[in-house]
Amino acid sequence: MDTRPIGIFDSGLGGLSAVKAVFQNLPNEDIIYFGDTQRVPYGSRSEKTIEAFAREDIAFLEQFGCKLIMAACGTVSSVAVNATSKIKEPFVGVVKPSCVAAVKATKNGRIGVMATSASINSGAYDREIHRIDPQARIFGVSCPVLVTLVENNWIDEDNYISKEIIRRYIKPLLDADVDTVILGCTHFPHLAPIIQSVTGEGVTLIDSGFEAVMQAKKLLFENGLENDKSHIGTAKYFVSDKTQNFSVIAKTLLGTDISDNVTFSETARQAIYG
Ligand code: DGL
Repeated sequence: MDTRPIGIFDSGLGGLSAVKAVFQNLPNEDIIYFGDTQRVPYGSRSEKTIEAFAREDIAFLEQFGCKLIMAACGTVSSVAVNATSKIKEPFVGVVKPSCVAAVKATKNGRIGVMATSASINSGAYDREIHRIDPQARIFGVSCPVLVTLVENNWIDEDNYISKEIIRRYIKPLLDADVDTVILGCTHFPHLAPIIQSVTGEGVTLIDSGFEAVMQAKKLLFENGLENDKSHIGTAKYFVSDKTQNFSVIAKTLLGTDISDNVTFSETARQAIYG
């Protein structure tokens, strides 16, 4: 039994797709979440900058003595491998578990990846899928505007502007006849109902936040790191800019009011800027 929290980070609200999956699948675990709302988006930045941001996010979470660290961020998982490979605690990113799930799900071997520009350009999803199945055909599309839609709460199913943007991004994937699409940026599962309405039910969507949590569950179990079964998990959220936007949108994304547990963290700022 291990009562230490799990540390989860993302550039902003995207990682809440992983938090939601923790609530549902690891209900005994405590969470420390860090959303770098001051510097979102990460996905349009250089490799060097993303590496530096990731190192700082990890340093912030390590102060809490986390038993496991999760980069609930496709961009960090794809690009900041130097930073994440130095983490002392067990580490979970979103790329590997999503690719494993996609290869398992596809029937025609044609897999689409929707992610940020940095993730797509890194080739991380292609490499990982080909490691598992060298025959798979992969079709990647950078979808930076979708991050902005989520950060601004434009996720309601009858938002026709969001739907039209998604339709444009997905067209090349549908033209390529994919039967499985990895939502390789953790912001995108928040748009899953709209994405699914565009793809139709014949396409399986892989939620990268959810898959990372399933991987974490396995790691905790295998290493005897699970919390007491009678413990009711708690969650604390830290953001590097004002809390209000985060709290309001998190309520829609998680379906619960977390505003009392969101802190604008001077500590986070200090960990980041010294
Ligand atoms: N949610 C992140 C990802 O999974 C980052 C999006 C961004 O900040 O551009 O890639």
